[in-house]
Amino acid sequence: MRIDVVTIFPELFELPLRTSIIGRAAEGGLVDFGIHDLREHGLGRHRSVDDYPYGGGAGMVMRPEPLFGAIEPLRNAGAHVILLDPAGERLTDALARDLALQPRLALVCGRYEGIDERVRALVDREVSIGDYVLTGGELPALVLIDTVVRLLPGAIAEASHTGDSFAAGLLEHPQYTRPEAFRKMAVPAVLLSGNHAEVDRWRRREALRRTLARRPDLLGAAPLTDADRSILEELRAVDEES
Ligand code: ADE
Repeated sequence: MRIDVVTIFPELFELPLRTSIIGRAAEGGLVDFGIHDLREHGLGRHRSVDDYPYGGGAGMVMRPEPLFGAIEPLRNAGAHVILLDPAGERLTDALARDLALQPRLALVCGRYEGIDERVRALVDREVSIGDYVLTGGELPALVLIDTVVRLLPGAIAEASHTGDSFAAGLLEHPQYTRPEAFRKMAVPAVLLSGNHAEVDRWRRREALRRTLARRPDLLGAAPLTDADRSILEELRAVDEES
């Protein structure tokens, strides 16, 4: 996969894309990054990329010419162009899985108070990482890259993300490692039992318990078996008793 990024802060991408799982995926050739400084397409002696908004108001708006100059060649090379924008569609596990199938992505990071509306004509989709406003699209672009690259075959063991929170429509079950007892908190005995069927049953039940308690909104769309439904009934009944 090839991921290009258009930004006025290319330095923000250096360390995150060289570190940990993303860095290893890049080193192993699973993904290849191109970070493009928008100022190279800036206007005039100062390489300006923004200007005052027509109609007045606070803040600056990113001009269309530098953005078109940077995006057009990526688009022509076949990239799926994504603008990071708080008004975009919400980044979810399902969207990340879709994007991980694309051979080429180009991520466009907005800054300042906004971008000239005409730039939207050049993008295939707009993505938001949540209902809050950041100072620019750089951190959202890094979030998107992280969530997509970890899904590329070979980036991490397949099993580590098929059981992810959200992948199965539920939050993930609790995890424990050594020591067996820590500050009087013990690891649930079933996990030490060596009985894999029991462990699987316990994990499913805990995933359901956690989702019911923290994100009941997910249960409507989660693929649930009849056994899951009766566990949920049971959990709800216990909840009502207490
Ligand atoms: N730019 C500023 N805020 C953002 C958000 N929440 N998601 C994507 N891009 C943004």
